[in-house]
Amino acid sequence: MGSINQNSLAPACPVIVDQSILKKIGNTPLIHMENISKRYPNVEIYAKAEWRNAGGSVKSRPALQMIEDGEASGQLTKEKIILDSTSGNTGVAYALIGKIKGYRVKLVMPANAVKERKGVMADFYGAEIVSSSPFEGSDGAIILAKEIYDKDPDKYFMPDQYNNDSNWRAHYLHTAEEIWKQTNGEITHFCAGIGTGGTIMGNTRKFRELNPKIQCYAVEPAEELHGLEGLKHMASSIVPGIYDESILDGKISVVTEDGYNMVETLEKEEGILVGHSSAAAIVAAMELAEKIDKGVIVTVFPDSCDTTYINFGKFKEFQDSQLPPATHKTDH
Ligand SMILES: Cc1ncc(COP(=O)(O)O)c(C=O)c1O
Repeated sequence: MGSINQNSLAPACPVIVDQSILKKIGNTPLIHMENISKRYPNVEIYAKAEWRNAGGSVKSRPALQMIEDGEASGQLTKEKIILDSTSGNTGVAYALIGKIKGYRVKLVMPANAVKERKGVMADFYGAEIVSSSPFEGSDGAIILAKEIYDKDPDKYFMPDQYNNDSNWRAHYLHTAEEIWKQTNGEITHFCAGIGTGGTIMGNTRKFRELNPKIQCYAVEPAEELHGLEGLKHMASSIVPGIYDESILDGKISVVTEDGYNMVETLEKEEGILVGHSSAAAIVAAMELAEKIDKGVIVTVFPDSCDTTYINFGKFKEFQDSQLPPATHKTDH
């Protein structure tokens, strides 16, 4: 009988030892916009694929940083409940990280967001969801979360993503370093949407150190009432404590309709199906590309338009709950 030569057998896939899903936060790919870049002879446009983070969005980075900095400082202990306001992505990230690390999570979301995909996902991971007024958007959720915290501060750990330096530090420590390495230090321009401001602040601060010539722009909705989910129109919102416009080279405003149209262009031209704010980020990157003769522009795609959620029974349950009560016809 022949014996099997073990050495000649290569493993079919790498053996993963002691890996947590939380290790899948960070180190996201940088994608070259092949066809869009061709419109500009000496300009290359890249986007950081943040939907590849565990938790599905850019917000997994600050959520993990805020939670781990809270643990390190002793403010977050196992008896405490993680409480924060969110309109979606951060909530999913808190809920996932809480599930893995063994913390209870309570999220305040505008009522209209609760029944959308992200509310459903956060609930799916076991977070307790509290609804704030659908008419007050993310500002209403911020105020209600603060009220809940103030009533019983010992019970909660409130990361407060709008005022927590760990939020922007997640990008300062990781995202910007990754972009710097992924472009071999050739990045000349950076632009990113503003929600809490964490992405733009953290990256800008690190780029200022790595190469002060890199120009950094925040992307914001042009209209006060807009449809670019995840982005804040600063002039009409509570300005986050971590947001400091003075360190930026400028802001680029994007009209909602242009963002929506760009979702389709990105899918057709690049084969990438992303959310509205990612599309808005590319609209802004293209506006920059029009203005410069040469350069490497990097932007951030915060989340995708992924369809995997439709696999969840919860989504089906939600869909069913939206249907009008069945009217039964009797056949005679
Ligand atoms: C869906 C979504 N989440 C988050 C962000 C960025 O948020 P922050 O400013 O909080 O880093 C954006 C910005 O483009 C976004 O579109």
